[in-house]
Amino acid sequence: MKEKGYFISFEGIDGSGKSTQIQKLARFLETLGFDVIITREPGGSVGAEEIRNLLLQGNVDRWSAETEILLFTAARRDHLERIILPAMEDDKIVICDRFTDSTRMYQGMRGPNLRNLVDMLNEKIINCDPDLTIVIDIDPQISLKRAKSRETVEERFEDFGVEMQLNMRHGFIELAKEFSNRIEVVNGQQSVDDLAKDICSIVKAKLS
Ligand code: TMP
Repeated sequence: MKEKGYFISFEGIDGSGKSTQIQKLARFLETLGFDVIITREPGGSVGAEEIRNLLLQGNVDRWSAETEILLFTAARRDHLERIILPAMEDDKIVICDRFTDSTRMYQGMRGPNLRNLVDMLNEKIINCDPDLTIVIDIDPQISLKRAKSRETVEERFEDFGVEMQLNMRHGFIELAKEFSNRIEVVNGQQSVDDLAKDICSIVKAKLS
């Protein structure tokens, strides 16, 4: 579906430091002369941001895993059509805070066969993988404190607790083995600047 541009996604458990690193990477790429857009999921387009509010607010049991998969996929399709693909067409570097790998983890791990459902919908409705995915690996005891200290109304997933975040951490590492052609795992427990250096050198090497 995409021939121009470059698509980078960031993944990791809640509070892993994605937003800070995305900003740093974007500034770095801009200094190299690239045209960069930063976007996020769920959300990124007007319609998908509306779906984000439905997904991230309210009680933990507001939606079943199946309904969540459909909502995340609908939001992603809109985001892809309206923001990601047009930016790639303009030869931009798209940096997206979360993409399909988050659905594979957060929804796909909630029951038997859910991962298959995510993959099936991804193939039929999305059909677009990032060129590169950076997974920031971090201990949930550290990251959850950071995530909860933000005090937003978007805490539905953070409210699932440490045990779920531990499963996610493990799941992301396994996913990196499954998609070793595009996923790179970085150590989120080093200083912000050291982590940024690691990420920038990975991306620079891929782009050259
Ligand atoms: P954020 O805090 O990184 O913006 O992500 C919002 C929450 O949404 C986070 O707890 C993970 C969750 N999420 C999913 O459960 N499935 C998905 O497909 C995506 C994109 C996010």
